[in-house]
Amino acid sequence: MSRIWFVTGAGRGIGAHIAGAALAAGDRVVATGRNLGALESRYGPYGERVLCVPLDTAREADSATAVAAALDRFGRIDVLVNNAGYGQLGVFEEIAAADVVRQFETNVFGLMHVTRAALPVMRRQRSGHVINLASVGGFMGFAGSAVYCAAKFAVEGFSESLALEVQPFGIHVTIVEPGFFRTDFLDTSSVRYGALAVDDYRRDMPDGRTYESYNGRQPGDPARLGRAIVQLAGTAEPPLHFVAGTDALGMLDGALQRRRLEVDAHRALSASTDGDF
Ligand SMILES: NC(=O)c1ccc[n+]([C@@H]2O[C@H](COP(=O)([O-])OP(=O)(O)OC[C@H]3O[C@@H](n4cnc5c(N)ncnc54)[C@H](OP(=O)(O)O)[C@@H]3O)[C@@H](O)[C@H]2O)c1
Repeated sequence: MSRIWFVTGAGRGIGAHIAGAALAAGDRVVATGRNLGALESRYGPYGERVLCVPLDTAREADSATAVAAALDRFGRIDVLVNNAGYGQLGVFEEIAAADVVRQFETNVFGLMHVTRAALPVMRRQRSGHVINLASVGGFMGFAGSAVYCAAKFAVEGFSESLALEVQPFGIHVTIVEPGFFRTDFLDTSSVRYGALAVDDYRRDMPDGRTYESYNGRQPGDPARLGRAIVQLAGTAEPPLHFVAGTDALGMLDGALQRRRLEVDAHRALSASTDGDF
Protein backbone atom coordinates (compact mmCIF):
# COMPACT_ATOMS: atom_id res chain seq x y z
CA MET A 1 0.00 0.00 0.00
CA SER A 2 1.31 3.45 -0.89
CA ARG A 3 2.20 5.44 2.23
CA ILE A 4 2.06 9.17 2.85
CA TRP A 5 5.30 10.76 4.07
CA PHE A 6 5.60 14.20 5.65
CA VAL A 7 9.20 15.40 5.54
CA THR A 8 10.63 18.60 7.03
CA GLY A 9 13.66 20.24 5.43
CA ALA A 10 12.94 18.32 2.22
CA GLY A 11 14.59 20.87 -0.08
CA ARG A 12 18.10 19.45 0.18
CA GLY A 13 20.37 17.10 2.08
CA ILE A 14 19.17 14.05 3.99
CA GLY A 15 15.52 15.20 3.89
CA ALA A 16 15.58 15.39 0.09
CA HIS A 17 17.11 11.92 -0.12
CA ILE A 18 14.55 10.41 2.23
CA ALA A 19 11.76 11.97 0.18
CA GLY A 20 13.40 10.75 -3.03
CA ALA A 21 13.72 7.21 -1.70
CA ALA A 22 10.08 7.20 -0.56
CA LEU A 23 8.99 8.32 -4.02
CA ALA A 24 11.18 5.68 -5.65
CA ALA A 25 9.39 3.11 -3.46
CA GLY A 26 6.04 4.25 -4.89
CA ASP A 27 4.94 6.31 -1.89
CA ARG A 28 3.60 9.88 -1.84
CA VAL A 29 5.26 12.79 -0.07
CA VAL A 30 4.39 16.05 1.60
CA ALA A 31 7.66 17.91 1.03
CA THR A 32 8.04 20.84 3.39
CA GLY A 33 10.68 23.52 3.74
CA ARG A 34 11.45 27.20 4.03
CA ASN A 35 12.03 27.71 0.33
CA LEU A 36 8.87 26.79 -1.60
CA GLY A 37 10.51 27.57 -4.96
CA ALA A 38 13.32 25.07 -4.30
CA LEU A 39 10.78 22.42 -3.31
CA GLU A 40 8.67 23.00 -6.41
CA SER A 41 11.59 22.74 -8.78
CA ARG A 42 12.91 19.57 -7.11
CA TYR A 43 9.55 17.79 -6.84
CA GLY A 44 7.65 19.24 -9.81
CA PRO A 45 8.39 16.17 -11.97
CA TYR A 46 6.48 13.94 -9.52
CA GLY A 47 3.20 15.77 -10.19
CA GLU A 48 0.30 14.85 -7.92
CA ARG A 49 2.42 12.42 -5.88
CA VAL A 50 4.10 15.31 -4.06
CA LEU A 51 2.58 18.23 -2.20
CA CYS A 52 5.04 21.06 -1.56
CA VAL A 53 4.23 23.14 1.50
CA PRO A 54 6.12 26.02 3.15
CA LEU A 55 7.19 25.12 6.67
CA ASP A 56 9.79 26.85 8.83
CA THR A 57 9.94 24.59 11.87
CA ALA A 58 10.82 27.55 14.10
CA ARG A 59 7.42 29.10 13.35
CA GLU A 60 4.82 27.18 15.32
CA ALA A 61 1.85 28.25 13.17
CA ASP A 62 3.49 26.82 10.03
CA SER A 63 3.21 23.26 11.37
CA ALA A 64 -0.56 23.25 11.82
CA THR A 65 -1.08 24.84 8.39
CA ALA A 66 1.20 22.31 6.71
CA VAL A 67 -0.43 19.32 8.40
CA ALA A 68 -3.89 20.63 7.42
CA ALA A 69 -2.73 20.96 3.81
CA ALA A 70 -1.35 17.41 3.91
CA LEU A 71 -4.68 16.04 5.18
CA ASP A 72 -6.57 18.01 2.57
CA ARG A 73 -4.56 16.46 -0.23
CA PHE A 74 -3.85 12.92 0.99
CA GLY A 75 -6.20 12.35 3.94
CA ARG A 76 -3.55 10.79 6.18
CA ILE A 77 0.06 10.88 7.34
CA ASP A 78 1.83 7.55 7.72
CA VAL A 79 5.42 8.64 8.27
CA LEU A 80 6.55 11.95 9.76
CA VAL A 81 10.25 12.68 9.25
CA ASN A 82 11.51 15.45 11.51
CA ASN A 83 14.67 16.15 9.58
CA ALA A 84 14.98 19.96 9.43
CA GLY A 85 17.92 21.24 11.40
CA TYR A 86 21.34 22.83 11.33
CA GLY A 87 24.52 22.73 13.36
CA GLN A 88 25.33 25.54 15.75
CA LEU A 89 28.95 24.54 16.20
CA GLY A 90 31.90 26.08 18.02
CA VAL A 91 32.97 25.99 21.67
CA PHE A 92 30.24 26.88 24.13
CA GLU A 93 31.80 30.11 25.43
CA GLU A 94 32.00 31.53 21.91
CA ILE A 95 28.29 31.07 21.23
CA ALA A 96 25.99 33.94 22.16
CA ALA A 97 22.86 33.14 24.18
CA ALA A 98 20.62 34.23 21.29
CA ASP A 99 22.30 31.66 19.03
CA VAL A 100 21.68 28.92 21.60
CA VAL A 101 17.99 29.87 21.63
CA ARG A 102 17.92 29.90 17.83
CA GLN A 103 19.42 26.39 17.72
CA PHE A 104 16.79 25.05 20.07
CA GLU A 105 13.99 26.88 18.25
CA THR A 106 14.72 24.97 15.06
CA ASN A 107 16.25 21.65 16.17
CA VAL A 108 14.15 21.01 19.29
CA PHE A 109 11.07 23.21 19.65
CA GLY A 110 10.50 23.14 15.89
CA LEU A 111 10.58 19.35 15.88
CA MET A 112 8.08 19.38 18.75
CA HIS A 113 5.77 21.83 16.91
CA VAL A 114 5.56 19.54 13.88
CA THR A 115 5.12 16.45 16.04
CA ARG A 116 2.36 18.13 18.06
CA ALA A 117 0.54 19.00 14.84
CA ALA A 118 0.86 15.52 13.32
CA LEU A 119 0.17 13.28 16.32
CA PRO A 120 -3.62 13.81 16.48
CA VAL A 121 -3.78 12.58 12.88
CA MET A 122 -1.78 9.47 13.71
CA ARG A 123 -3.78 8.82 16.90
CA ARG A 124 -7.01 8.94 14.89
CA GLN A 125 -5.51 6.52 12.39
CA ARG A 126 -4.23 4.33 15.23
CA SER A 127 -1.02 4.05 13.23
CA GLY A 128 1.99 6.08 12.24
CA HIS A 129 5.75 6.33 12.40
CA VAL A 130 7.64 9.37 13.67
CA ILE A 131 11.26 9.42 12.53
CA ASN A 132 13.42 12.01 14.27
CA LEU A 133 16.85 12.99 12.99
CA ALA A 134 19.13 13.24 15.98
CA SER A 135 22.85 12.52 15.61
CA VAL A 136 25.64 10.48 17.10
CA GLY A 137 26.00 13.82 18.92
CA GLY A 138 22.65 13.08 20.55
CA PHE A 139 24.22 10.13 22.32
CA MET A 140 27.66 11.49 23.23
CA GLY A 141 29.28 14.90 23.51
CA PHE A 142 31.99 16.35 21.24
CA ALA A 143 34.33 19.31 21.78
CA GLY A 144 33.22 22.27 19.71
CA SER A 145 29.66 20.97 19.62
CA ALA A 146 28.18 21.61 23.06
CA VAL A 147 25.11 23.51 21.87
CA TYR A 148 24.36 21.24 18.91
CA CYS A 149 24.79 18.14 21.09
CA ALA A 150 22.58 19.67 23.79
CA ALA A 151 19.84 20.10 21.19
CA LYS A 152 20.28 16.56 19.83
CA PHE A 153 20.33 15.08 23.36
CA ALA A 154 17.02 16.90 23.85
CA VAL A 155 15.68 15.24 20.70
CA GLU A 156 16.73 11.84 22.06
CA GLY A 157 15.12 12.32 25.47
CA PHE A 158 11.96 13.67 23.89
CA SER A 159 11.75 10.86 21.36
CA GLU A 160 12.44 8.01 23.78
CA SER A 161 9.72 9.27 26.13
CA LEU A 162 7.28 10.04 23.32
CA ALA A 163 7.71 6.49 22.01
CA LEU A 164 6.32 5.14 25.29
CA GLU A 165 3.39 7.59 25.26
CA VAL A 166 2.22 6.89 21.71
CA GLN A 167 2.93 3.16 21.52
CA PRO A 168 -0.64 2.31 22.69
CA PHE A 169 -1.96 4.06 19.57
CA GLY A 170 0.09 1.95 17.20
CA ILE A 171 2.54 4.79 16.60
CA HIS A 172 6.25 3.98 16.35
CA VAL A 173 9.12 6.39 16.99
CA THR A 174 12.61 5.98 15.54
CA ILE A 175 15.60 8.14 16.41
CA VAL A 176 18.20 8.31 13.64
CA GLU A 177 21.79 8.84 14.80
CA PRO A 178 23.96 9.61 11.78
CA GLY A 179 27.70 10.12 11.79
CA PHE A 180 29.10 12.52 9.19
CA PHE A 181 27.10 12.56 5.95
CA ARG A 182 28.06 14.45 2.81
CA THR A 183 25.39 17.13 2.66
CA ASP A 184 25.41 20.90 3.11
CA PHE A 185 25.46 20.37 6.89
CA LEU A 186 29.06 21.67 7.22
CA ASP A 187 28.71 24.14 4.34
CA THR A 188 28.47 27.83 5.13
CA SER A 189 24.95 27.74 3.67
CA SER A 190 23.89 25.68 6.73
CA VAL A 191 26.38 25.53 9.60
CA ARG A 192 26.85 28.37 12.07
CA TYR A 193 29.86 28.92 14.29
CA GLY A 194 30.10 30.95 17.48
CA ALA A 195 30.15 34.69 16.91
CA LEU A 196 32.16 35.50 20.04
CA ALA A 197 35.94 35.21 20.35
CA VAL A 198 37.53 33.89 23.53
CA ASP A 199 41.31 33.95 23.15
CA ASP A 200 42.09 31.01 25.46
CA TYR A 201 40.37 28.64 23.04
CA ARG A 202 42.26 30.13 20.11
CA ARG A 203 45.53 29.22 21.84
CA ASP A 204 44.52 25.58 22.22
CA MET A 205 42.76 25.25 18.87
CA PRO A 206 44.25 27.84 16.50
CA ASP A 207 41.35 27.49 14.12
CA GLY A 208 38.60 26.80 16.64
CA ARG A 209 36.42 25.63 13.75
CA THR A 210 37.39 22.01 14.00
CA TYR A 211 34.57 20.72 11.81
CA GLU A 212 35.31 22.81 8.73
CA SER A 213 37.99 20.41 7.56
CA TYR A 214 35.40 17.61 7.24
CA ASN A 215 33.27 19.51 4.74
CA GLY A 216 33.11 17.55 1.49
CA ARG A 217 35.01 14.62 3.05
CA GLN A 218 32.25 13.03 5.14
CA PRO A 219 32.06 9.25 4.65
CA GLY A 220 28.26 8.97 4.74
CA ASP A 221 26.18 8.91 1.55
CA PRO A 222 22.82 10.64 2.15
CA ALA A 223 21.20 8.73 -0.74
CA ARG A 224 22.00 5.42 0.97
CA LEU A 225 20.73 6.79 4.28
CA GLY A 226 17.49 7.82 2.55
CA ARG A 227 17.01 4.29 1.26
CA ALA A 228 17.85 2.76 4.65
CA ILE A 229 15.23 4.92 6.35
CA VAL A 230 12.57 3.95 3.82
CA GLN A 231 13.51 0.31 4.41
CA LEU A 232 13.15 0.74 8.20
CA ALA A 233 9.79 2.47 7.79
CA GLY A 234 8.58 -0.61 5.93
CA THR A 235 9.25 -2.99 8.82
CA ALA A 236 6.54 -4.07 11.26
CA GLU A 237 8.66 -3.29 14.35
CA PRO A 238 11.05 -0.45 13.51
CA PRO A 239 13.85 0.19 16.02
CA LEU A 240 13.77 3.00 18.57
CA HIS A 241 17.34 3.91 17.63
CA PHE A 242 19.08 3.59 14.29
CA VAL A 243 22.79 4.35 14.01
CA ALA A 244 23.90 5.43 10.53
CA GLY A 245 27.45 5.08 9.22
CA THR A 246 30.56 3.19 10.31
CA ASP A 247 31.98 6.34 11.92
CA ALA A 248 28.89 6.63 14.12
CA LEU A 249 29.02 2.90 14.92
CA GLY A 250 32.65 3.21 16.05
CA MET A 251 32.01 6.29 18.17
CA LEU A 252 28.93 4.74 19.77
CA ASP A 253 30.68 1.47 20.54
CA GLY A 254 33.44 3.43 22.30
CA ALA A 255 30.98 5.58 24.22
CA LEU A 256 28.93 2.59 25.37
CA GLN A 257 32.07 0.83 26.58
CA ARG A 258 33.28 3.92 28.44
CA ARG A 259 29.87 4.37 30.06
CA ARG A 260 29.80 0.73 31.17
CA LEU A 261 33.29 1.05 32.73
CA GLU A 262 32.32 4.32 34.44
CA VAL A 263 29.13 2.88 35.91
CA ASP A 264 30.97 -0.19 37.17
CA ALA A 265 33.88 1.82 38.61
CA HIS A 266 31.54 3.60 41.02
CA ARG A 267 28.80 0.98 41.37
CA ALA A 268 29.22 0.57 45.14
CA LEU A 269 29.18 4.33 45.76
CA SER A 270 26.16 4.72 43.44
CA ALA A 271 24.29 2.04 45.38
CA SER A 272 25.22 3.61 48.71
CA THR A 273 22.89 6.59 48.30
CA ASP A 274 19.60 4.75 49.01
CA GLY A 275 18.06 5.81 52.32
CA ASP A 276 17.28 3.54 55.32
CA PHE A 277 13.67 4.75 55.27
N1 LIG B 1 24.96 15.61 7.56
C1 LIG B 1 25.39 15.18 8.73
O1 LIG B 1 26.59 14.89 8.89
C2 LIG B 1 24.44 15.00 9.86
C3 LIG B 1 24.86 14.23 10.95
C4 LIG B 1 24.01 14.04 12.02
C5 LIG B 1 22.75 14.59 12.00
N2 LIG B 1 22.35 15.34 10.92
C6 LIG B 1 21.02 15.93 10.98
O2 LIG B 1 20.32 15.62 9.79
C7 LIG B 1 19.37 16.63 9.52
C8 LIG B 1 19.50 17.09 8.06
O3 LIG B 1 20.76 17.68 7.89
P1 LIG B 1 21.53 17.63 6.48
O4 LIG B 1 22.79 16.88 6.69
O5 LIG B 1 20.63 17.21 5.41
O6 LIG B 1 21.93 19.18 6.34
P2 LIG B 1 21.63 20.23 5.15
O7 LIG B 1 22.08 19.65 3.85
O8 LIG B 1 22.23 21.48 5.63
O9 LIG B 1 20.04 20.33 5.11
C9 LIG B 1 19.36 20.86 6.21
C10 LIG B 1 17.91 21.00 5.87
O10 LIG B 1 17.21 21.48 7.02
C11 LIG B 1 16.45 22.61 6.63
N3 LIG B 1 16.23 23.55 7.72
C12 LIG B 1 17.11 24.15 8.55
N4 LIG B 1 16.48 24.96 9.41
C13 LIG B 1 15.17 24.89 9.12
C14 LIG B 1 13.99 25.48 9.63
N5 LIG B 1 14.02 26.37 10.65
N6 LIG B 1 12.79 25.15 9.10
C15 LIG B 1 12.71 24.27 8.07
N7 LIG B 1 13.79 23.69 7.51
C16 LIG B 1 15.00 24.00 8.03
C17 LIG B 1 17.23 23.23 5.50
O11 LIG B 1 16.38 24.09 4.75
P3 LIG B 1 16.95 25.34 3.90
O12 LIG B 1 17.31 24.77 2.57
O13 LIG B 1 15.80 26.28 3.87
O14 LIG B 1 18.13 25.89 4.66
C18 LIG B 1 17.66 21.99 4.75
O15 LIG B 1 16.62 21.51 3.94
C19 LIG B 1 19.61 17.74 10.54
O16 LIG B 1 18.67 17.61 11.60
C20 LIG B 1 21.01 17.45 11.03
O17 LIG B 1 21.21 17.94 12.36
C21 LIG B 1 23.17 15.56 9.86
